[in-house]
Amino acid sequence: LRLLFASAEALPFSKTGGLADVASALPQSLAARGVDVRLLTLAYRDTLEKLQDRRQIARLSVRGQDMSLWEGTVRGAGATALRVWLLDYAPLYARPGRPYTNEQGHEHADNAWRFGCFSEAIAMLALGAVPDTAAWMPQVVHLNDWHTGLAAMHLRRAGKQDSPAVVFTIHNLAYQGVFSRGEFDALGLPPDEWNMQALEFYGGFSFMKAGLLYSDAIATVSPTYAREIQTPAFGERLEGVLRMRAAMLHGITNGIDTKVWDPATDPYLVTRYTADTAVDGRRANKLALQRAVGLRESAEAPLFAFIGRLAEQKGADLLPGLDAQLERNGAQLFVLASGDPVLESTLAKWSARAAGRIAVHLGYDEGLSHRVESAADFLLMPSRFEPCGLNQMYSQRYGTIPVVRRTGGLADTVVDNGTGTDHQAIATGIFFNDADAGGIAYGVDRALSLMRDSARFRQVQQAGMATDFAWGLAAGEYLDLYAQAQRER
Ligand code: ADP
Ligand code: GLC
Repeated sequence: LRLLFASAEALPFSKTGGLADVASALPQSLAARGVDVRLLTLAYRDTLEKLQDRRQIARLSVRGQDMSLWEGTVRGAGATALRVWLLDYAPLYARPGRPYTNEQGHEHADNAWRFGCFSEAIAMLALGAVPDTAAWMPQVVHLNDWHTGLAAMHLRRAGKQDSPAVVFTIHNLAYQGVFSRGEFDALGLPPDEWNMQALEFYGGFSFMKAGLLYSDAIATVSPTYAREIQTPAFGERLEGVLRMRAAMLHGITNGIDTKVWDPATDPYLVTRYTADTAVDGRRANKLALQRAVGLRESAEAPLFAFIGRLAEQKGADLLPGLDAQLERNGAQLFVLASGDPVLESTLAKWSARAAGRIAVHLGYDEGLSHRVESAADFLLMPSRFEPCGLNQMYSQRYGTIPVVRRTGGLADTVVDNGTGTDHQAIATGIFFNDADAGGIAYGVDRALSLMRDSARFRQVQQAGMATDFAWGLAAGEYLDLYAQAQRER
């Protein structure tokens, strides 16, 4: 199977969220299964240098701009190297700032153009319209999130005979790429697409809607989220489109890169450990983390952690409301996060006031996130919605018990420590139902009781560490979906 896998971010080149983890690990897992896959992503600043064995293989003119395509490989921990294509056009992509935002943290003003051009380039490469690469034409194109959505429209309009099957994965429906009529015209999009049955969306036009309408199969990153987004509460005004396409919509739970996230070999950890040595190894890591981030050193104090983007989605605004409850129980909290400046400053002030028991690291720190997973007793995820979520899986693999709101992928990847005896043997974490002050307090309360029952605590921890979150299963489901999309065509 020849597969072109396109994503606006992918490790080790770029990352703003879980999409980058998935866009790297899933194609690697598919390559290891014999799929002839090319990962197509963008050359942001400092990206090209990370591409091994790189050579320029094509030039293409996209909307009058002379772009280059580089080919190289990434060799992850797996044996099979992944072939990567980087689309390089410095004026649009190699700018200061991050993939979607400038140095001030605001969206790049021309994101419609930047990702509209990316989408068009994807379609050109997939259709063999670039002479230098025309010898390799994919049978399936796998698009991810709104940045690539317009490619589905271009491919559909190319006609069924000549174009590959298209699979579109929704990683997060909250980010849709909705822009104005002026931007629609500037991209030279077909005027007949400006209607409610096509790209038009509440007075603007939507990249996400293009992906949903014009793909042959749609996936999202967990079965529960696949159901949720067909309702107004989670559908972000696209629930109607999603219900219309419900027969094509599949929930495939993400895996994790079990080589990168392995407490037995993790180079970031102070002390490495396995399930058998978890108790001692994790105690050493907990004391080291407390020391490093300014928490009172104590193996007994229950240590909660939060890792993530400070956005409405993640519910981190609920954390300060736990202050009294944590203090009363001698518990600690460590937050590793960045995002909303108002919440950043609230968290910073809180930790200053509660030194020794609340610590906050603002910023993005890959190594620290690994050390936290190897050290905390509990990971809190009070998400208002969560398409899949990766940290709760990393946590389980590392023996940190996830305390999560029962929504989206969290509901699908954590087994609640309920009361039934069947449950007791397989529980891996704790659910709470409501993303509000009462909900999270209830979750924390249940976590504290679990910690008082050390035998039970160990059992839940061991069950999490024994769970298989590797990509194998999901990669198999995607292979089935590719076959289905080819039949749909
Ligand atoms: P989302 O994609 O919605 O942000 P995910 O749980 O899918 O959520 O993925 C988030 C990824 O980003 C995880 O790999 C997580 O460890 C990482 N991450 C988020 N914030 C930080 C941070 N401040 N420092 C280090 N890693 C972070
Ligand atoms: C999105 C979602 C997150 C998911 C990730 C990877 O960023 O917010 O829940 O895990 O994509 O699919």
